[in-house]
Amino acid sequence: MAQQPVFDQDGEQRVDDAFIDDTTDAAEREAAHRERGTSRPITVVGNPVLHKECKDVTEFGDELAQLIDDMFASQRTAEGVGLAANQVGVDLKVFVYDCPDDDGVRHTGAICNPVLDELPPERRILDDSNEGCLSVPGAYAPLARPDYAVVRGQDAQGNPIAIEGTGYFARCLQHETDHLYGYLYIDRLSKRDRKDALRQMAEGEPRYPVVANA
Ligand code: NI
Repeated sequence: MAQQPVFDQDGEQRVDDAFIDDTTDAAEREAAHRERGTSRPITVVGNPVLHKECKDVTEFGDELAQLIDDMFASQRTAEGVGLAANQVGVDLKVFVYDCPDDDGVRHTGAICNPVLDELPPERRILDDSNEGCLSVPGAYAPLARPDYAVVRGQDAQGNPIAIEGTGYFARCLQHETDHLYGYLYIDRLSKRDRKDALRQMAEGEPRYPVVANA
């Protein structure tokens, strides 16, 4: 992808060439990952692995590549647009995504050790669309989040990368990064909305394999 304007923490616009191209051949790349992978069951709210910060990825080898392939397979089975490693029970800071942006363009990829950029106030335009999570099956609730996000981290080989998202994809980048720090979207809801989400979850059956909580 060509250079794009971004903003540093002081709100200064600067040029950044670290953004990866995660749109070219998105369907082919996603299919290749999941065909090499094996789908794993999804952890649900209450499982301790979802409620603490994950460990940094420090080994960028075959094991990580296999985990990422398995996460793509799991994401497809559960019909998700993003999946964090602790959602398949792995205590590592990595997430995968397969998500459309504001313009309906499909973005596919994986990032390790993600950190969200602080946005200057003028970029913090809140969108209060519905949000859901594979680890809170069957529940949805509106949640205000900025409609733009930049996340920085490393690719599966350990190279520094940055990902930019708008609309639903911006929401996805924030949601998945939250997971790796031990937060579910329901932790950002009011007490009442959180309770309602948990009620929605209790009323249904997950449509994909989940790990039973002890
Ligand atoms: Ni989630």
